[in-house]
Amino acid sequence: QKRQTTASIRAMKGKDRVVCLTAYTTPIARLLDPHCDLLLVGDSLGMVLYGMETTVGVTLDMMAAHGRAVMRGVSHACVIVDLPFGSYQESKEQAFRSAVRLMQETGCDGVKLEGGEEMAETVAFLTARGVPVFGHVGLMPQLVNIAGGFRSLGHSDEEAAKIHRDAEAVAEAGAFAVVVEGTVEPVARQITASLKVPTIGIGASPACDGQVLVSDDMLGLFNDFKPRFVKRFADLSPLVSQAARDYAEEVREGQFPAKEHTFQPKPR
Ligand code: KIV
Ligand code: NA
Repeated sequence: QKRQTTASIRAMKGKDRVVCLTAYTTPIARLLDPHCDLLLVGDSLGMVLYGMETTVGVTLDMMAAHGRAVMRGVSHACVIVDLPFGSYQESKEQAFRSAVRLMQETGCDGVKLEGGEEMAETVAFLTARGVPVFGHVGLMPQLVNIAGGFRSLGHSDEEAAKIHRDAEAVAEAGAFAVVVEGTVEPVARQITASLKVPTIGIGASPACDGQVLVSDDMLGLFNDFKPRFVKRFADLSPLVSQAARDYAEEVREGQFPAKEHTFQPKPR
């Protein structure tokens, strides 16, 4: 299997659906890699791994550390690391510095940033200088403190037109693909029809060119809440609970460790 690149992902437009999942650690990246075109080290790790309520508290240091971990487990998928809140919105120069840091410290293929028209100049600046950019429009979790919460978008004509303009703007600026999050189907369909690069949907209908899910959601490991767009392809939490229960019981009753888990001195 050839290694996927941002160019090969872009070339899948109109041909093959793009399979994407998030990954944050080496062992999970190793398991997902053979099945995915794209692995995203998402800033969702703040909520999924660190128990934060939003992604606003995630730092560049955290993204770099998890990006390195994921890269150690990947040999096939294209790997993109999220630029976290505050690391790119100030200026295109700040965005470039943050992106270069992630690419040099992790070896990832490119970065993702949230934003539409207001980020187009930054996307153009980065792509012209060798930083592949994965766009992200529609529901943008880093704006939670402005939006006041998470809800699906594109219900009014005005909202629909805005998301469409945002997607067009980042694609025209050079994004190799665009995440469309939390957006009603007709809008996701129109955007997918008009962009020349793949749309990767999350809560944005099957009309998109590809799909992404947070792997802990689809594995049933993150159960704080389950949005409508999540499908549990596995239910791992009860397995973990059961294993902990069995372990605790065996330790308390002196059944574990058994003979086969125990070192004895070599016979002399
Ligand atoms: O952080 C993340 O996991 C994401 C995807 C859900 C698109 O941005
Ligand atoms: Na993200």
